[in-house]
Amino acid sequence: MSDDLAHTDPEIYSVIERERQRQLQKLEMIASENFVSAAVMEAQGSILTHKYAEGYPGRRYYGGCEYVDTAENLAISRVKELFGAPYANVQPHSGTQANMAVYFTYLKVGDTIMGMDLAHGGHLSHGASVNFSGRFFKAVTYGVDRQTEEIDFEAVRELARNHRPKMIIGGASAYPKAIDFSRFADIAREVEAYFLVDMAHIAGLIAAKLHPDPMPVADFVTSTTHKTLRGPRGGLILAKEAYGKALDSQIFPGMQGGPLMHIIAAKAVAFKEALAPNFKRYQEQIISNARALGREFQKRGYRLVAGGTDTHLIMVDLTETGLTGKEAEEALDLAGITVNKNTIPFDPRPPKITSGIRIGTPALTTRGMKEEEMAVIADLMHQALSDIQDTARLQRLENQVREFCAQFPLFAEEWKIK
Ligand SMILES: Cc1ncc(COP(=O)(O)O)c(C=O)c1O
Repeated sequence: MSDDLAHTDPEIYSVIERERQRQLQKLEMIASENFVSAAVMEAQGSILTHKYAEGYPGRRYYGGCEYVDTAENLAISRVKELFGAPYANVQPHSGTQANMAVYFTYLKVGDTIMGMDLAHGGHLSHGASVNFSGRFFKAVTYGVDRQTEEIDFEAVRELARNHRPKMIIGGASAYPKAIDFSRFADIAREVEAYFLVDMAHIAGLIAAKLHPDPMPVADFVTSTTHKTLRGPRGGLILAKEAYGKALDSQIFPGMQGGPLMHIIAAKAVAFKEALAPNFKRYQEQIISNARALGREFQKRGYRLVAGGTDTHLIMVDLTETGLTGKEAEEALDLAGITVNKNTIPFDPRPPKITSGIRIGTPALTTRGMKEEEMAVIADLMHQALSDIQDTARLQRLENQVREFCAQFPLFAEEWKIK
């Protein structure tokens, strides 16, 4: 009998197969998701998963690391070149762990950190009370201006002067506009705080030089590798050289055990792809698609948070439609369109209900969709949201979405599980 997955574990085989169909047949518009290349998938699914390699290249605690050392060195040198970084650590298992490593290296428990309010678009790991960052550190949060819905730097300065944080964090999960990191850096300098930029969402845009660059102004830059950057699921830390030694030892042995060498190899592959000339064109298309989608929504009467986007995502305020984010997410899902409900700034509704949805274009762009397709998609979404009780209509839309998706093949042949 064959020992492949279909035979040894039909239940998990079926999960993967059904998820593959879901990804193929639905419009994937979660702003933090993307589809990796076949080469990235091949590396992360490789035999490198077998290898223990605690430590760093050339100084491991295990024998037999000569080949994985090369993989990690390639990942490090490529990501340094990509972002112009003097130091890189590619071992963090996730974006949250990259942030944790920076905090634990340079802060003491109880120190004050200042990050963007979760309810205004920040990330859990920037000081949310339910997260370790809000439990171990005293978190002060900044938000956006009520009128412009953009970061209010004067308010940030005021808050920093009042609270004298040890670390200021720039970066967000649900903020559509470009972030002027140099303004944060000025404030951090004034109050003698470290300045961390978490570029998880926008790393691809930064690599393509389509977003202000944090590297020259931040002490530390953290990221995930799986969003706009289009690599495997994981994290990384970049910094000035002087911080390298302490950060390395915080990741290992401070916080993590053996690095995921298959993932590190896949990160190296993704960084190589991001260094290739066509990556910039791809990132430009992600932004143009987000802008096009935003305009199409506006044409249909929807209000966009901050009036539009400079990035890969738009935030749609549903207040005028009478729908909650939760209702919209559920109706769109029935129509074959995957988005997430999201609080909008000053949202009167709780995070499980919300008044908005967050919509991203990286995954659609990877499938080869362009501005023309964004118009079709906005129309499909508008139809779904126009009467969320009309299940027959949602069903018809789902069929239309499936036919539409079929025009944009996604997976390489070799990924199809036999
Ligand atoms: C800004 C930001 N930082 C960190 C993370 C956390 O990354 P991970 O889910 O890999 O821990 C995210 C994830 O959405 C994010 O948006």
